[in-house]
Amino acid sequence: MNEETKKIIQDLNDVPAMPNIVIKALNIVKNPNSSIKDLGNIISCDQSLSLRVLNIVNSAYYGFAQQITSIQRALALLGMNRTKNIIIAVAMKPMFSAGKNKNLWEHAITTAVGCEYISEHLNISDMDEAFMMGFMHDIGKIIINLQEDELLEKVNEFVKDGSNIIEAEDAFFGTNHAEIGAELAKKWQLPVLLTNVIKYHHNPLKSTVPVECALVYLVNKLVQPHYKQENIDESYIKCLNINIDRPEILRESILNRAEILISDLSM
Ligand SMILES: [Fe+2]
Ligand SMILES: [Fe+2]
Repeated sequence: MNEETKKIIQDLNDVPAMPNIVIKALNIVKNPNSSIKDLGNIISCDQSLSLRVLNIVNSAYYGFAQQITSIQRALALLGMNRTKNIIIAVAMKPMFSAGKNKNLWEHAITTAVGCEYISEHLNISDMDEAFMMGFMHDIGKIIINLQEDELLEKVNEFVKDGSNIIEAEDAFFGTNHAEIGAELAKKWQLPVLLTNVIKYHHNPLKSTVPVECALVYLVNKLVQPHYKQENIDESYIKCLNINIDRPEILRESILNRAEILISDLSM
């Protein structure tokens, strides 16, 4: 960790805490002796979460044929990892939407959906893991967005003019959201793979897990509001071994799927 990253994290009165329910869900999934029932128990304690899970399992996003009315049945269909992902996506919404974060939650869900979609179709990485990589990739922005407005605006201006966000943040903060995100991931005790992806999602070739980082890099570029094909550095995504002839069509599919999930999770 460089000095500036250390300073920014130390200067915070308190580093944002991971919501309790997320810690519980992560621990349940990690523990080989636990079962889907344990996840069911934490969901049943939270009425609004129960409703959202039922919403999703009945939505076009998963396309299960029958109408599902019980949480037990919903979880059996979703399985441990997808259920955990839904719990995390819902529970972290307040943190991802507070203050200056504005569209961070929608961007996290959209990137998650894109990573899941591509990984499913191309057999890159595990699709539930891919969802989590996409969802968490920009957690460092939670802390970057706590910095002074004036500096944040300057970074935004540079990015609008086509500058690389990492270079712009480095210039104004001496560190960047990828670096800070990786530190936050360590504090939250997220899996090592996830921490790596967070750290290198703008620079996949520097990572020891270039395929996963390239996946997140690609999706993050595709889902940008001002998407341009030339903004994708082909050398970064070579390791994915995919041929994207019509990136705008892939982009459309991702955005459409994400819209469904965002609306189901927001109800
Ligand atoms: Fe990023
Ligand atoms: Fe991003």
